[in-house]
Amino acid sequence: MTRMIRIFDTTLRDGEQSPGCSMNLKEKIEMAKQLEKMKVDIIEAGFAITSPGDFESVQTISSIIKDCTVASLSRAAEKDIDASWEALKKAVDPRIHIVIATSPIHMQYKLNLEPDAVIEKAVASVKYAKKYCSNIEFSAEDATRSDLEFMARIFDATIQAGATTVNIPDTVGYTTPEEHYEFFMKLRELCPRLDDVTISAHCHNDLGLGVANSLAAIRAGVNQIECTINGIGERAGNAAMEEVVMALHTRKDLFQAETRVVTTELMRASKLLTRITGVKVQPNKAIVGENAFSHESGIHQDGVLKHKQTYEIMTPESIGIVGNNNIVLGKHSGRHAFRNKIRELGYEISDEQLEQAFAKFKVVADKKKSVYDRDIEAILAKETLQVPK
Ligand code: KIV
Ligand code: ZN
Repeated sequence: MTRMIRIFDTTLRDGEQSPGCSMNLKEKIEMAKQLEKMKVDIIEAGFAITSPGDFESVQTISSIIKDCTVASLSRAAEKDIDASWEALKKAVDPRIHIVIATSPIHMQYKLNLEPDAVIEKAVASVKYAKKYCSNIEFSAEDATRSDLEFMARIFDATIQAGATTVNIPDTVGYTTPEEHYEFFMKLRELCPRLDDVTISAHCHNDLGLGVANSLAAIRAGVNQIECTINGIGERAGNAAMEEVVMALHTRKDLFQAETRVVTTELMRASKLLTRITGVKVQPNKAIVGENAFSHESGIHQDGVLKHKQTYEIMTPESIGIVGNNNIVLGKHSGRHAFRNKIRELGYEISDEQLEQAFAKFKVVADKKKSVYDRDIEAILAKETLQVPK
């Protein structure tokens, strides 16, 4: 049976915390509308208490968005929860998201609180938020560096206090897929109440494992993933939404889980975020990078031209690329791709002409990184192949 995994998008909150990624109100609204169009389940619109701008973003997004839950982050403090609620109250489905740190290092140095006092504060905050709305998420910051038995205790207590989602953040991107899987399996054993609520994973990418750890959490029974478009976020970022969604989509056989995200909107969301923030995606980034569906080597180009699935595990169309010109000609390209390109440009040439043009093309390709259509047209003209258009 296929399970549904909820996608909790935190591009506008955790994502916005990455250098160079801050957005103004108009930009956040544009982004939120795109997230709604692509059917993410939850949009974390901001951290209402942090600034008047963040408050206004949460408030405006709450009144515009109809088809997603809208969340605002709060520390485990009444004034934070009041601000979140004030900003969220017009939302169709508001969620107050409460966070407190649970690792020994955070409790000692950041909070200066004993573990029992942390549980008390968490429980009191969940109960306080519950008077405003039913949809409450509780996050244990730095969970993956916290004591497992303490985690079980705090989750048991906050679920009894009314939390409907509990989130396990790998705040500093410290864990590995095997360890993360074990962590969730043991936690579910120690805290059976977890099976009555939504269990969530929130993975950072400091070791480049954000997506792998999120997928391991799904295998261990998690049913909400927190992520961002293009993987933006603190330091090395958060798990990238497009990668999580397409991994589940492409490997349904393995995960037996899916999301309601409209995959054909992923590229648009990525491009919109790039346009808004000016932060470019690396060309070899999975799913949305410029080269993600490009083939340069002759063997690969030849294979793809014969049957796309030889070197493509998903189609460019499935993420919303239309009219993909995925064959990039370069020095590794072969005759087959070259002839195809010539045809695409509207030329028909004899085998002999092809040989002459191909030899010329290799000389040009040796000098240039990529050979563009205009270069090929120039080659054809230079060779005076007299090929009719
Ligand atoms: O990484 C983290 O711990 C967070 C929490 C606020 C969920 O972003
Ligand atoms: Zn985070």
